[in-house]
Amino acid sequence: MGSIVLFGPPGAGKGTQAQRIMEHTGLPQISTGDMLRAAVKASTPVGIEAKGYMDRGELVPDDIILALIEERIKEPDAANGVMFDGFPRTVPQAVALSEMTSISHVLAIEVPDERIVERICGRTTCGRCGIVFHDTFNPVPSSGCPCGSYEEKRRADDNEDTVLNRLHAYHLQTSPLAEWYEEKGLFHRVNGDRAINEITADLLSLLE
Ligand code: AP5
Repeated sequence: MGSIVLFGPPGAGKGTQAQRIMEHTGLPQISTGDMLRAAVKASTPVGIEAKGYMDRGELVPDDIILALIEERIKEPDAANGVMFDGFPRTVPQAVALSEMTSISHVLAIEVPDERIVERICGRTTCGRCGIVFHDTFNPVPSSGCPCGSYEEKRRADDNEDTVLNRLHAYHLQTSPLAEWYEEKGLFHRVNGDRAINEITADLLSLLE
């Protein structure tokens, strides 16, 4: 198996499923969104440049994203393949990625637009371990976060206005990638409008 791409609109459940697939496959998760948020928090030059795009719900320019990926996949844990979450998001990013590493599966989690706002606006994350929850659909267990100490975090871009812009960017710039990967025979669709466990089971069976 080569590297995997988790594909889908904002709030489709890419991060949620990446954490579960990682437990089964051992492939490290590379989330460009997480890398950018870390850069913003640390006020690095990349973070300072990316922040405005992220706050508006627009895609960060390809050259910034590709420089981050090029560095990240040189790290030793990426030697036997990785799981990309939220990357690539444009055809130029996919073309550049195909020159860097081999992709064996693109797993598309499909969720209708009308589900996206409620998913994103109810999202919380444990700031200590990164597990993703939802106020209604996937609440923090009454016993607390599995890591032992739940620290609630909400993302700055998880508001209705920004979500609608992110969805617009997805349809305009990212969804054309489906056809690009379909032509290469790598694209697999999964219905993401179901219980989290059912989706995980389908994704894992596609990887077998
Ligand atoms: P990024 O961080 O990648 O955000 P995103 O793509 O908008 O995706 P999300 O993280 O919002 O959603 P997800 O699919 O991971 O869903 P999750 O599992 O959390 O990007 C943020 C920004 O960074 C972009 O807008 C852009 O500016 C920039 N950026 C990042 N990468 C870039 C790139 N490659 N190029 C250019 N710019 C880039 O689930 C969401 C919620 O739903 C959670 O609360 C979860 O508990 C719940 N949930 C999950 N599954 C289910 C289910 N089956 N049923 C009910 N609820 C569910």
